[in-house]
Amino acid sequence: MSDTFYITTPIYYVNSHPHIGHAYTTIVADIFTRFRTLFGEDTYFLTGTDEHGQKIAESAANSNISPQEFVDKMSQEFRDLWPHLHIEHSQFIRTTDSEHKALVQRALQHIYDREEIYLKQYEGLYCVGCERFMDEDELIEGLCPDHQKAPQYYQEENYFFKMGAYQNWLVQTIEENEDWIYPQRYRNEVLQMLKKPLDDLCISRPKSRLTWGIELPFDANFVTYVWFDALLNYPNALNWPNGELYQKYWPHVHHMIGKDILKTHAIYWPCMLKAAELPVFKKLVVHGHWNSEGSKMSKSLGNVVDPLAMKDKVGVDALRYFLARNMSFGDDANFTEELMITRYNGELANNIGNLINRSVSMSCKNFENQIPPKGEFGSLEQELHQSFMESIEQVKQYLFSFYLHRALEKIAFMSSLVNKYLDTAAPWKLAKQESDRERLGTVLYTALDAVRIIIQLLAPVMPKKMEAAWQSLGLPLEQLTDAQFEIGILPEGLTLPKPAPLFPKIKESSPAEPPREKSTEPPKETTNADEVASSQVTIDQFCKIELKVGKILSSERIKKSDKLLHSQIDLGEDKPRSIVSGIAEFYSPESLVGKQVMVVSNLKPVKLRGVLSEGMILCTDDGEKLTLIEPSQDTAPGTMIR
Ligand code: MSP
Repeated sequence: MSDTFYITTPIYYVNSHPHIGHAYTTIVADIFTRFRTLFGEDTYFLTGTDEHGQKIAESAANSNISPQEFVDKMSQEFRDLWPHLHIEHSQFIRTTDSEHKALVQRALQHIYDREEIYLKQYEGLYCVGCERFMDEDELIEGLCPDHQKAPQYYQEENYFFKMGAYQNWLVQTIEENEDWIYPQRYRNEVLQMLKKPLDDLCISRPKSRLTWGIELPFDANFVTYVWFDALLNYPNALNWPNGELYQKYWPHVHHMIGKDILKTHAIYWPCMLKAAELPVFKKLVVHGHWNSEGSKMSKSLGNVVDPLAMKDKVGVDALRYFLARNMSFGDDANFTEELMITRYNGELANNIGNLINRSVSMSCKNFENQIPPKGEFGSLEQELHQSFMESIEQVKQYLFSFYLHRALEKIAFMSSLVNKYLDTAAPWKLAKQESDRERLGTVLYTALDAVRIIIQLLAPVMPKKMEAAWQSLGLPLEQLTDAQFEIGILPEGLTLPKPAPLFPKIKESSPAEPPREKSTEPPKETTNADEVASSQVTIDQFCKIELKVGKILSSERIKKSDKLLHSQIDLGEDKPRSIVSGIAEFYSPESLVGKQVMVVSNLKPVKLRGVLSEGMILCTDDGEKLTLIEPSQDTAPGTMIR
């Protein structure tokens, strides 16, 4: 494990207002930075805005202001938002900064001097939304799948970077470094893209068409292509080649991105670095998309969710928790207010918040507002301590391998273990007998000491809430970020302030009601708070889902999709069901024929990529791959699963 960590987010386009997708990447980068700092690493966290290119120039023209005025105003929106979301970046870079512009020109000149750039006549299809030329086979029915717009046709003279020459080197680098592009599925996706010959990259725009950009140092008639300018922000911020920050942090650079910009980061960027004779990044960490109303959030689709409005519903820290917890890292996730409130009530109010409140309030009540003496640990405590030691190790492992949702799941599990411990040890019963007083102290001390560890682990995700929780143990704030995960080191006898619930429950029926940040209401001593589940359903709701065994009769790939397979599945009905499933990366169509699978059979039919899907095949998902769940013995198609 290295002791230095440099993390970057994409620099965001300033043609639209920041939304929950931008907030997600930046919050997650902030969380990883705080975790690494907690575990003693020297960290640096960069974010910023991408301000050149055709898209920005068009937006400025539409607003009837100069591009510079436009980008100044919009960039400020991003910069102003982050502190509201408890994001603490080390640096905010803008591609209109003069230092950045000078270093882009320096890199270009260097690559040009190495004869890696040439001029040629070019024609191609350009998506302004993506700010890149697209191959015809990337389009679906003539439209860019991300922006739902037809690309523009251009024919012009431009400068090209000899990217194609790096193809073999790139494939070899990816193959030799298993974790370089993470999670695995994105590494596979890039290797798949590299099966086709890699074209040279057009890196200029003639000024006759676009002036809003960084002038090429070797030809004043052109500006730099926006991606060639933008990607260089990562080392430019550290002032390469001689800057102190560059020397210190560049060898440890981790780029966090959404999957939409995989190609530019996993293909263009390493080739550019190699051509500029800079070391390639240490790791590319790729996450999925937050969808809203069934599609990726985007300005052009008009389905964006405003992070500030969401923070007003549950509070900033709970929003951060929800985003980090509900997206299985690498996969897409759905954003709804309902899911957010369910997670809040299930995990923050009922489990973690309740644990903190009940431990503190019972100690206050029985030990005159002080942390009780720990007494002698018995078998129940030893069992809890053992599970805690193992869980802390697992949390660490998950975090260092960017499995954020798993780390949080584990921390919630630790909290439910302590709730369960309290339910078994039943301090409220011990409190009734003076002869059990020592035991009562041990039980409450054990719970408070465990709470201390949980608070430290959660502080990177919910910094302000955990500050309040930490203070509710009577501990000084400066110790919160000084990781101490040994058991039994909570000082006895500390004075406990009057407790207040951290996460008051929100009424599910009225999601608009904001949570009270402070309350004087005494905390409840519930005894059934050990559910970890947050998206709880009732038995009645669950019983509405019909599960059946199906047999796959045939299967084929769906055109222009790397992920989807279309199968005909026998469910013991008159005719086979047509079902589309996202397993193409893990199973070839041929290998599926004859397999028995578990199917959700009463889903409302939908069309995916124009193909009817009348059910869903169930798989396990370990974060890396999907595996079909098959019955352990031969079972007739249509057999119910109960
Ligand atoms: N300017 C380029 C990036 C240049 S980096 C050298 C760009 N900007 S962007 O404003 O479009 O931001 C894209 C990034 O924002 C995604 O890669 C992702 O990090 C984040 N997200 C935007 N929408 C998102 C979702 N709906 N869900 C999750 N993250 C999303 O591309």
